[in-house]
Amino acid sequence: MNLLIAGCGDLGTELGLRALAAGHRVHGLRRRAEVLPDGFHRIAADLGADLPPLPADTEVVVFTTAADRRDVDAYRRAYVTATGRVLDALEAAGATPRRVLFTSSTAVYGVGDGSEVDEDTPTGPTSATGAVLVEAERALWQRRPDAVSLRLAGVYGPGRTRLVDQVRDGRALRPERGVHTNRIHRDDAAAALLHLAGLPSSPATCYLGVDDEPAPLGEVLAFLAAELGLPPPPVGEVRRSRGGDKRCRNARLRATGLELTYPTYREGYRAVLAGEGIRHP
Ligand SMILES: NC(=O)c1ccc[n+]([C@@H]2O[C@H](COP(=O)([O-])OP(=O)(O)OC[C@H]3O[C@@H](n4cnc5c(N)ncnc54)[C@H](OP(=O)(O)O)[C@@H]3O)[C@@H](O)[C@H]2O)c1
Repeated sequence: MNLLIAGCGDLGTELGLRALAAGHRVHGLRRRAEVLPDGFHRIAADLGADLPPLPADTEVVVFTTAADRRDVDAYRRAYVTATGRVLDALEAAGATPRRVLFTSSTAVYGVGDGSEVDEDTPTGPTSATGAVLVEAERALWQRRPDAVSLRLAGVYGPGRTRLVDQVRDGRALRPERGVHTNRIHRDDAAAALLHLAGLPSSPATCYLGVDDEPAPLGEVLAFLAAELGLPPPPVGEVRRSRGGDKRCRNARLRATGLELTYPTYREGYRAVLAGEGIRHP
């Protein structure tokens, strides 16, 4: 399979490495293409400007671009405009990709009462940036009704240790009420993208990219503290988390046959704390 990864950063590079290992051809597009590992066909380009010719034999295109800043304009550039530009450039090259994959976020849901969320839950973002992701998905589906959006929850992994650092520094507070966190290890997010890229029959147009176990944030923090040999972080008033309070279900993704290396935060964080893997630049 000939794969084009647009916005090929940490997640995109991990996806590309897995695709290369499976014998596929990989083009990685980003501004600093020189940092991509050997084996990648590097396309140095800014998605905010005119794009160079893209490979005409692209079979699968994956969007893993991230916004430079957490504001509406940056999000629109990264997720709406850039996606359209890549599709335009592929069209101009005469490419007809059979699959288009987009990495979105569970921020498209506005659920805050701890209830279950799945792909049938209506979107209702509470943040302006979440609203742009909904806009980006809609724009993509208008153009490619068969495009697949993988709505990722909090991605953690090698070098992505925000929660670990908070616990280690003593900044972490366990919320008084049981706010849930939904997470996915970067490697499983990359595995999910490769799996969806390779499915022979048409996948659904939307999947939640989360592990098997939405967990109370306080429980995750206490687990990390125990792993670090520290006492559980104190209970305190926590500013309402960006992710609201929801329990995301991954049944649809798992029903495609995807196996997770890190089915819960426990296996995933143990690997992170053991120093397994690297964060790709
Ligand atoms: N982190 C989370 O918890 C989370 C949650 C939900 C969804 N996601 C999504 O997962 C996706 C991948 O995230 P990630 O962690 O892999 O992000 P990342 O490491 O920051 O990678 C994104 C890449 O996009 C490239 N990029 C940004 N602007 C560009 C532009 N104008 N032109 C060309 N390339 C550009 C950057 O490379 P250059 O600087 O070299 O251009 C960067 O390496 C993103 O869509 C993100 O929103 C993440």
